[in-house]
Amino acid sequence: VEIQASLTDFSNLSKLEKYEYSLESIKALCESESDRTANLANATSVLKTAFGWWWVGFYLVKGEELVLGPFQGPVACTRIQYGKGVCGKAWELKKSIVLDDVEQFPGHIACSAESKSEIVVPVLSSTGEVLAIIDADSQYVSHFDAEDQKYLEAISGYLSQIWG
Ligand code: SME
Repeated sequence: VEIQASLTDFSNLSKLEKYEYSLESIKALCESESDRTANLANATSVLKTAFGWWWVGFYLVKGEELVLGPFQGPVACTRIQYGKGVCGKAWELKKSIVLDDVEQFPGHIACSAESKSEIVVPVLSSTGEVLAIIDADSQYVSHFDAEDQKYLEAISGYLSQIWG
C-alpha cells in the first residue's frame, strides 16, 4: 500500500472492500513502525478516509480510566471512567457494542450532538485484558452492523499483536 492511500477514491467501493483495503493499509503502514502512537494515528486516518465517519479514534486504558488517544474528527471528551458510557461499558464487558441509536443507551456520553449511532470495539491483550477501545461514531442512525463489528475486531486483533 502506498502512502498516497489517502488520495484513493473510495466512493465506488463496497463496505467489505473498504474494510479489506483498510486492514491491508493499516498492516502495511504499521509493519515497519514500532511507535504505538504513530501507528494508532495512521489507523484512525485510514478509517476516517475510507469510511468518512463523523468520528473515529482510540481511548487508551490508563489506570482506572480511559484517556483519549489518536482520533480523527471533532474534539472529544478526554477521560471516561470504567463502566461509564459506551466505551467504559465495552471495557467492563470486554466486548464490542453496536449501538443503532445512541439515545437508547442509558449513560451514553455525548461528545457531539451530531453522533447518532456508534460502535465500540475493545483491543485485547494476549491475556484478555483491555488495552484500548476503538470508537466510531456516525451522524446517521443504525450506521454500524455485524459486518463492521467483524472487521473492526479484525483490525483490533492486528493492533493487539503489534501493541508492544
Ligand atoms: N460516546 C462515547 C464517548 C466517546 S465519544 O463518542 C467520541 C461513550 O459513550 O462512551
